[in-house]
Amino acid sequence: MPQYFLLLSGEHPSLPFAEVEAILEAEKIPYRKRQKTRQVLRLNTTATAIEALKTRSAFTRVLCQELFCCKASTGEITNSIRSAPLEQFLSSGDSFAVRVRRIGKRTGGFTSVGLEKVVGGAILDKVKRTKVNLSSPEKVFFGTITSGYFVFGLKLAEVSPTPFRERRPRKKPFFHPSAMRAKLARCMVNLVKPIAGDLLLDPFCGTGSLLIEGGLIGCRVVGFDADKRMVKGSMRNLKFFNVECDGLAVADVKNLPISKANCIVTDPPYGRSASTMGYETKEIIHDFLKTAIQSLDKGQSICLAAPITSNIKLIAQKVGLTHVQSHLLYVHRSLTREITVLEKS
Ligand SMILES: C[S@@+](CC[C@H](N)C(=O)[O-])C[C@H]1O[C@@H](n2cnc3c(N)ncnc32)[C@H](O)[C@@H]1O
Repeated sequence: MPQYFLLLSGEHPSLPFAEVEAILEAEKIPYRKRQKTRQVLRLNTTATAIEALKTRSAFTRVLCQELFCCKASTGEITNSIRSAPLEQFLSSGDSFAVRVRRIGKRTGGFTSVGLEKVVGGAILDKVKRTKVNLSSPEKVFFGTITSGYFVFGLKLAEVSPTPFRERRPRKKPFFHPSAMRAKLARCMVNLVKPIAGDLLLDPFCGTGSLLIEGGLIGCRVVGFDADKRMVKGSMRNLKFFNVECDGLAVADVKNLPISKANCIVTDPPYGRSASTMGYETKEIIHDFLKTAIQSLDKGQSICLAAPITSNIKLIAQKVGLTHVQSHLLYVHRSLTREITVLEKS
């Protein structure tokens, strides 16, 4: 399998890596992790991985075919350029640009721009009759300096953050302060590994953020909320983003009018911006998981966001769900969210 590397978002230390693996597993794309450094994942996989990550991922930034990885020193970098199979990607007459991104502290005594010039010069020396074009190059080479290494390759794709920004809570026709950011919602959807056509359920749908992200990657979506105003608002938001839904209704999580789903992604109320309707968050989560487990088959998953104080692992254990992974998300002094993936085993 060819070698690739991905530059991931620095918004969270573990969620971007977990999201990549979940997408590849959902789409049944073979992969082998080679190295994980801050914001960079080097892996062997197939070309189909690039398309899948480009269309689904919230936290992947740049996707490259790897040419080499060496120590981040000018000498090592120029030597590596000399022996890299650049001719496979660049022919005589082609124009190219080199972009370098440094992650973390400055190392090696060079700036990103300085290194772009060094690398560009070495490429011009190696592949004759090529030219640099910074505004509309035919090929873009991309390198990152991370944890003392320079990883370099041909840029295949870049994921634009703009569509996620366009779906931020304030941009939706129905706004509520409890609404989740589109990027986090997309990542949570990916963590349950759905494929197009799967039925995704959100029993605490609020403004519909998770349903919208699920619908946009081709899932069929069903949502419930105990508050009629939220259900109406969700309907408006889904319609605005052209997401069709299989069902959206007022229902209490203790009594959901649904018997089967392929996956569940949700964000129960914490009693701050979203009402718990007089119940304790832990009690609601317990009731939700007890009901939810009945609508899933063996091997199917739930991803939920909850305050770390809810002790999800313990509740999951009580209702017979297996804990798969957790990611902590600091919100403010009195709220750290735990994004948890549970599986019916
Ligand atoms: C944190 S909000 C969900 C926010 C949503 N993820 C979004 O991005 O808009 C939790 C939702 O759960 C609903 N809720 C509270 N108690 C419920 C219950 N017992 N059954 C179903 N929904 C409930 C609230 O009305 C609220 O809309």
